[in-house]
Amino acid sequence: MEYRAPKGTNDFFPPRSTTLRRAISAMSTVLEAYGFEPLETPIFEETPLFVRTIGDATDVVQKEMYTFKDKGDRSITLRPEGTAGAVRAYVENHLDQLAISRLFYVGPMFRYERPQAGRYRQFHQLGAEIFGESHPLVDVEVIDLFLAMCTTVGLTGLSVTLNSVGCAECRPAYAQKLQEMLKDAPLCETCKARLQSNPMRVLDCKNGDCRSLTREVPTLVECLCSACAEYHKAVQSGLEAMGIPYTNDPRLVRGLDYYTRTAFEILIPGKEGAQNAVGGGGRYDRLVEQLGGRPTPAIGFAIGLERLQLLMEQQNVTRFTGRPRPVYFLASSEAGQRVAMTIAGPLRRAGVPVTVDLSGGNFKKQFKNASRANARVAVILGDDELTRSEVAIKDMDTQQQQVVPLDQAAERIRSLHEQGASGPAPAAPGRE
Ligand code: HAM
Repeated sequence: MEYRAPKGTNDFFPPRSTTLRRAISAMSTVLEAYGFEPLETPIFEETPLFVRTIGDATDVVQKEMYTFKDKGDRSITLRPEGTAGAVRAYVENHLDQLAISRLFYVGPMFRYERPQAGRYRQFHQLGAEIFGESHPLVDVEVIDLFLAMCTTVGLTGLSVTLNSVGCAECRPAYAQKLQEMLKDAPLCETCKARLQSNPMRVLDCKNGDCRSLTREVPTLVECLCSACAEYHKAVQSGLEAMGIPYTNDPRLVRGLDYYTRTAFEILIPGKEGAQNAVGGGGRYDRLVEQLGGRPTPAIGFAIGLERLQLLMEQQNVTRFTGRPRPVYFLASSEAGQRVAMTIAGPLRRAGVPVTVDLSGGNFKKQFKNASRANARVAVILGDDELTRSEVAIKDMDTQQQQVVPLDQAAERIRSLHEQGASGPAPAAPGRE
């Protein structure tokens, strides 16, 4: 039997996994500069949490959740997104009392979707959430942060689309208006159902006929209550003051029900329609209260890491590519291997990647291994060197070799290594 990864999932291995890990690390540094701290929540939660927060009429809840009964007969769901768990954790652990308000997380999410490029059943998000702040400039700050994270990984040309989805005051009235205006319109079957269960999603339909049928209906931004309208205006002028270009998209409703007021997406340049968002987010001022916490405004976003990675590849971002180039120890005897291990330890603890060849093969073979590992430096511990308490250090790029006393080896190796710690990936094993 041939084993394959389940449909819609991916294995990440070097050099891609290395690039992604480095990009996440660079983005985490940016997040820390904006005051965020890490959060870890379980990969599965009790199903009602997602039904309640994401909304029982959404596609995510109706069609896409990985839900199962555990051995204790509880209904469990693999998280389809991170906000629900973050809010649950915030309320359950009374994080407001600990003055913890800015959190970020990285991890896998699960949605049973039809897989295609940029859309998977297990994918990864880097998400960030802010609790307890309701100033329009916080919304601006969040968008600014999103863009700063994209800039730090070298992406260019992303565009911001913005909308306001109103609040509990103005949205229900608008939804009712929409239902009345479209009740006899020949919408697609999905939209007909949506018009009853989740009318705003009708505006989001990609079907050309539906789009023209809804072209004339007033949009929610035109029907916002005065508080939401004022808030939306303040967000827009804040973006302008920060010099952040954006486009208003009155059809942007997002696929999750918890949003209030600001909703936004960051779009991939030149890509229309589905899978064109590298990430998205918005405000969700009611959710903490809905989950039993004190009324607490909140806002956040999530970046899809597979889409980020695809985009980095498309834009030829090489800043994070290249596998680490190890220092490679070659030894001809067990005594040599032991000496290699004693020098390797402190080097590794100082952050130098080291490989010790314990294959026991001859030097010719071990040098071949060193080349395949794309080693920057080879350290040779042969019988002659050992007798004289020396090591031979070879610069694998220039092929120059020097002999140094054992007690100076670590220092010399380190300085050579620093002259070219990473480089292009070597040929994949077995494919030369
Ligand atoms: P979302 O728009 O559902 O928002 O997902 C955010 C991003 O995750 C998308 O823009 C996309 O890049 C990526 N994504 C979603 N589904 C898939 C998939 N099947 N395959 C690959 N990538 C995917 C949220 O999840 C909200 N929790 C964001 C948020 C945080 N809002 C407030 N706080």
